Amino acid sequence: MEKQKLQQLLADMSLKEKVDQMLQLSGAFYLGDENQVLTGPARDMGLQKEDLEMAGSILGAAGAKTLMRLQDDYMKKQPHHIPMLFMMDVIHGMKTIFPMPLAQGATFHPELSKECAHAAAKEASVMGLHVTFSPMVDLVRDARWGRVMESTGEDPYLNSCFAKAMVEGFQGENPGEKGRVASCVKHFAGYGGAQAGRDYNTVELSEHTFREFYLPAYQAGIDAGAELVMTSFNTINGIPASTNKWLMRDVLRGEMGFDGVLISDFSAILETVAHRSSADECEAAVKALEAGVDIDMMTSVYSANLCRLVEEGKVQESLIDEAVGRILELKNKLGLFENPYKDADPEKENEVILCEEHRALARKTAAESFVLLKNDGILPLDLNKKIAFVGPYTENQEIKSSWSFTGDAKDCVTVKSAAREVFHPERTSYHNGCPVIGRDVELIGFTGTEEHKISEKELRIMEEEALTLAKEADLVVMPLGEHYLQSGEASSRAMLDIPEIQMELFRKVCRVNPNVVVVLFSGRPLDLREISAKARAILEVWFPGTEGGHAIVDVLTGKSNPSGKLPMSFPYCVGQVPVHYNEYSTGRPNLPGMKEKFRSKYLDIPNAPLYPFGYGLSYTDFEISPVRLDQNQMDQEGTITARVTVKNIGNCSGTEVVQLYLRDNYSSVVRPVKELKGFKRVTLLPGEEKEAVFVISEEMLRFYREDGSYGSEKGTFRVMIGNSSTVTDGAEFELV
Ligand code: GLC
Repeated sequence: MEKQKLQQLLADMSLKEKVDQMLQLSGAFYLGDENQVLTGPARDMGLQKEDLEMAGSILGAAGAKTLMRLQDDYMKKQPHHIPMLFMMDVIHGMKTIFPMPLAQGATFHPELSKECAHAAAKEASVMGLHVTFSPMVDLVRDARWGRVMESTGEDPYLNSCFAKAMVEGFQGENPGEKGRVASCVKHFAGYGGAQAGRDYNTVELSEHTFREFYLPAYQAGIDAGAELVMTSFNTINGIPASTNKWLMRDVLRGEMGFDGVLISDFSAILETVAHRSSADECEAAVKALEAGVDIDMMTSVYSANLCRLVEEGKVQESLIDEAVGRILELKNKLGLFENPYKDADPEKENEVILCEEHRALARKTAAESFVLLKNDGILPLDLNKKIAFVGPYTENQEIKSSWSFTGDAKDCVTVKSAAREVFHPERTSYHNGCPVIGRDVELIGFTGTEEHKISEKELRIMEEEALTLAKEADLVVMPLGEHYLQSGEASSRAMLDIPEIQMELFRKVCRVNPNVVVVLFSGRPLDLREISAKARAILEVWFPGTEGGHAIVDVLTGKSNPSGKLPMSFPYCVGQVPVHYNEYSTGRPNLPGMKEKFRSKYLDIPNAPLYPFGYGLSYTDFEISPVRLDQNQMDQEGTITARVTVKNIGNCSGTEVVQLYLRDNYSSVVRPVKELKGFKRVTLLPGEEKEAVFVISEEMLRFYREDGSYGSEKGTFRVMIGNSSTVTDGAEFELV
């Protein structure tokens, strides 16, 4: 629809009709018994039948037939036949579930994530969806926070690369195109900084840190064209994001140039009353509208108050016109006025979802996401050996992560089913050994099989059987780890341990067989000290998604050589958290080998994480030469080219992620000891060598200076290029 017609449509709409466009309700309100809804949750929210009928968008419903019917019903009743928007959390896949985002971050392969996002968009759009609440681009440093699984990690540059790739994957050139959906970058802003890693907790960040570390990835998503941004639950400078005018008007729309739809997180506007920064819903409505929030997700704060507030002269109708104008513009960009169903296609649906192409992509991405943390040579497995798979993820289809409810566990390939396709049936045995969690773990909302409620006797039998198989085998592969509901939203943990019931099994197996390989399922970095001490190899597989079992067997057998690198530090123990590689040196750095007391260190543990950012092993070995610079001086307009030669000195092909780190040797404000500014995946045959070339520009040296301006400062810099963030050797250059 042309712009002029859209403006005319807005002008023709009644005030109530406009306010209805700013209301988003759950699809559950439309799929159940209407009377039950109206006398139940809708009434509790102060919603009338008319609100349900006129809400401008729905979240959490999918299915071509269902959404086409809802659209028909809605447009018949909508006075101007304006189409509804259908949105959903398609976080890392729709029906084909790809590795969780933190795992995708471990690939250091944003282009692959772009393909995954595109595949997810094809499945979501054919099922009738228009918008996905993804990517989540919050920087994370605290493994206690359950939503680290939804982020791509602790580095602003890496997160920015993935934010861009995922938005482009979902939207393409135009989200109105077939097989695309509009992308909603979230949660704006700083949500990952929750104090003590406790979800929804207060965020206290200096503006310097906020701008240096937390904002870049949102900017990358916006620059990639994200059509929506979602507000976060937390406060920034003591004001909840959803009513924070500075954050939303000055920063997001002013400085960052975002002109799309701003949607609140689930009931986040209403929750400003609980924050005690809004006296009541009325004030919350005024503040959120003035902050520029266009859609109120799942409360009636807007729909129950805005019309009256306009009539009482307490808010300007122009603010509502501004918000509704953006909502109509989004519907127009998606082509919904011409084709309200967009890509919804009941026939095509079954061809697209879980198609072989998507499964193959999920398998490839999962294999690339795995991080080999330890290996004394026992991997890749010798298939002539007698192998026992013992652990609760041997035969467990819940390997999608907690943020993938659109997919079905029944579609997931287990370790066992994949292994049976490859391993010799007479030389291979399988046993879960114990439940994923014991009675000591409570998981609210866990509706799975109450397997962990088995009796002591049954548990003993399970263990006996498993230990017998472990004893008889040459080596034991132990698929174990967190329960999938132990990470994700509202799933913060004060301890970073693997469920005790599994650790007991692990210890018993190690006592009967020293040749143990741990395949670790987790939604976050964990405390791996004991496992690292006893296992001969550790492969971190995160929650690998639909093709997890196949990908794990591909890597265990050497069909795929692991190349993943940690996107987030694995702490020595929870007491070290938050821990991240790009820290400041402090005035008393505890440098390697120092024995002095008065240094920045602990009495009881080392400063270094157990496994650092950027770390990951391969089945082969790579040699990276010293850094070569084409010059050692550059001015503001200049560039410096840094080169290293990477050689595969092992006996199998592999991919090394070569990482470029820069350090500003002196600056007016303290700077990180090093910062990731580039990375390249270099694939080499045995004996082959290639050059990795990085061009360093002045832009890469910029930061928020003492006066708050963003730019570089003259002086010397150190260039370090290596295979993890522990690299220190390098070369120096000067910015003049
Ligand atoms: C949740 C999450 C957000 C999600 C939204 C809709 O509370 O914070 O990430 O997109 O609600 O499900």
